[in-house]
Amino acid sequence: MSARQVDDQGRLRHLLTLDGLPRDVLLRLLDRAHALQAQALAGGSREILAGKAVCTLFFEPSTRTRSSFQLAATRLGADVLNFDASTSSTSKGETAIDTLRNIEAMGVRGFVVRHQVDGAVAVLAESADAGTALINAGDGRSAHPTQGLLDMLTIRQAKGGDFSALKILMVGDVRHSRVARSDLHALRTLGAGEVRICGPRTLLPSDDTLQGCVVGEDLDAALGGADVVMMLRLQRERMQEGLISSIDDYHRDFGLTAERLRRAAADAVVLHPGPMNRGVEIDDDVADGPQSLILKQVANGVAVRMAVLEALLGDDRRATAH
Ligand code: CP
Repeated sequence: MSARQVDDQGRLRHLLTLDGLPRDVLLRLLDRAHALQAQALAGGSREILAGKAVCTLFFEPSTRTRSSFQLAATRLGADVLNFDASTSSTSKGETAIDTLRNIEAMGVRGFVVRHQVDGAVAVLAESADAGTALINAGDGRSAHPTQGLLDMLTIRQAKGGDFSALKILMVGDVRHSRVARSDLHALRTLGAGEVRICGPRTLLPSDDTLQGCVVGEDLDAALGGADVVMMLRLQRERMQEGLISSIDDYHRDFGLTAERLRRAAADAVVLHPGPMNRGVEIDDDVADGPQSLILKQVANGVAVRMAVLEALLGDDRRATAH
């Protein structure tokens, strides 16, 4: 996968996954996103992608990812085309590949794609012209690389750049979560000290996703001394019946309450990729409380997506693995 997204000169061609993305490319994207932060929330640098066009091609719903990509591309000066699958000719049977190639024919060279099928964005990347860049905005349960990057930026800003000093706890539905997979890929690349995973056995993957993690089902124990607590959404839309006994039981065993959070380090921070199921995986007073970085994640999403768009489409491409 990484061979397809980095060219022979070590330049980013597409962003499909954080799995195997070279550490220096990842760090360069985080550094650039940090530098772009002020511009991301006010004004931007409209000369960076002036004259270029970006299409958001979403076959699944989104609030944060789609909106922040639109803002990011606009603030870099690109023209933005928002493709709405529900009103498009895909409803007449046109394939995703034909859709991409037709919009490409209009001169669009950047595509931000979300699709419900694992690997769909990589397949589209193989069908694209040599000068076209694709960004995976979430495919099935496989990958959500810009979410992984914005989570790492948020942790780095809160806790510093030495990930080896951190105990990071991820809680909940890892099995269905592309966010969890991208976060785990990035945490490995950044050398996180200890990654703990906690959730019901039925919602944990049985493949090698959790290799090297400390895995358990006791949230009170897992929280002990944690520096970062990453809560995951219960993904009921991807879930077969019967994987959890009830929502009430799930909240009792795996919901993050203010009382539970006191077991973590005193300066622990709480992340959640959104959308939240309030009162299920996270209580209101934690989500809206002083340790929550959830809206900081959202703000960082604009800067990260500006950095990625610039790296892929800018004339002065920065994310080179040298
Ligand atoms: N975190 C995330 O991907 O949110 P959206 O589904 O709203 O884009």
